Amino acid sequence: MNISVTWKGRHLRRQVSGPFFFASFPAFLARFAVKAIFRFSGSPANQQHPALASLRSRLYHLPVSSNSLRGRFITFEGLDGTGKSTQIEKLAKALRARGLSVVVTREPGGTATGEKIRHVILDSATTQLSSRAEMALMFASRAQHLQEVIKPALAEGKIVLCDRFTDSTEAYQGAGRKLGGEPVLELHRILCDDLQPDLTILMDSDVASSVERARRRNQKTSKNGRSHKDENRFEQENRAFFTRVRNGYLAIARREPQRVALVNARGTPPETHAKILAIVCRKLRLSGKAQ
Ligand code: TYD
Repeated sequence: MNISVTWKGRHLRRQVSGPFFFASFPAFLARFAVKAIFRFSGSPANQQHPALASLRSRLYHLPVSSNSLRGRFITFEGLDGTGKSTQIEKLAKALRARGLSVVVTREPGGTATGEKIRHVILDSATTQLSSRAEMALMFASRAQHLQEVIKPALAEGKIVLCDRFTDSTEAYQGAGRKLGGEPVLELHRILCDDLQPDLTILMDSDVASSVERARRRNQKTSKNGRSHKDENRFEQENRAFFTRVRNGYLAIARREPQRVALVNARGTPPETHAKILAIVCRKLRLSGKAQ
């Protein structure tokens, strides 16, 4: 005898015969119920219900497909000085106003170990760092970040907004430092389980104005004493380097248009925010109205 149930386009079917029908039917129903709870509690609109979120994370250890476990992973990319941090803050505020649980994080960094690595990579006192060592440090920070912050947050159904991810390594080390994209993608497979963002916002601007803005920002930060950190090592690179980085980003956007949304970042911060919010709301199937 065949039993089949269809729910939200998913089709479950079991073939049972004779006395085994009564023995296997409860297990079949239980499995169907678990899948239904996962799908229902995992949709962004339902994540604001703490009971559903907790039920979902408790059930996480049951063997079900990884896709139905996940929150949403959104990364921000672009040249230095395109205003990513401002836009991430604005987006986090807008999503939280809609009752969603949001984690904001960054790379390199995002964990205690990652922040130490960040200091080594970005401090202009770090001299003679080989391009391969630089790429390896980016991945060391990322592997730790995935294990400590990103994966647990996604498993709890949260929305993770991450300032830079592997596209940065492909653009900066792969294209900028001329190491090529293939080793970057290979390391991503080996060290990051090939985890792909659900959406990447690529903030595009021209090289001269972005880098100039980043240089001014970093000088101001150290002069104000707001931060004693020197994060200028990349800003000392020349225009040809940043042109290769930008072209590297544009090539990723052409290769993966379904994941990467190219956003013109030359407008005012509110204008750019409106564009980003519309893209994210479409992706998360939320209302795009300001709240
Ligand atoms: P950050 O201050 O986070 O960027 P921004 O200036 O855009 O606010 O600086 C991080 C720097 O590290 C930036 O210059 C890009 C570089 N980087 C890489 O070269 N490869 C990577 O994989 C990552 C994550 C960053």
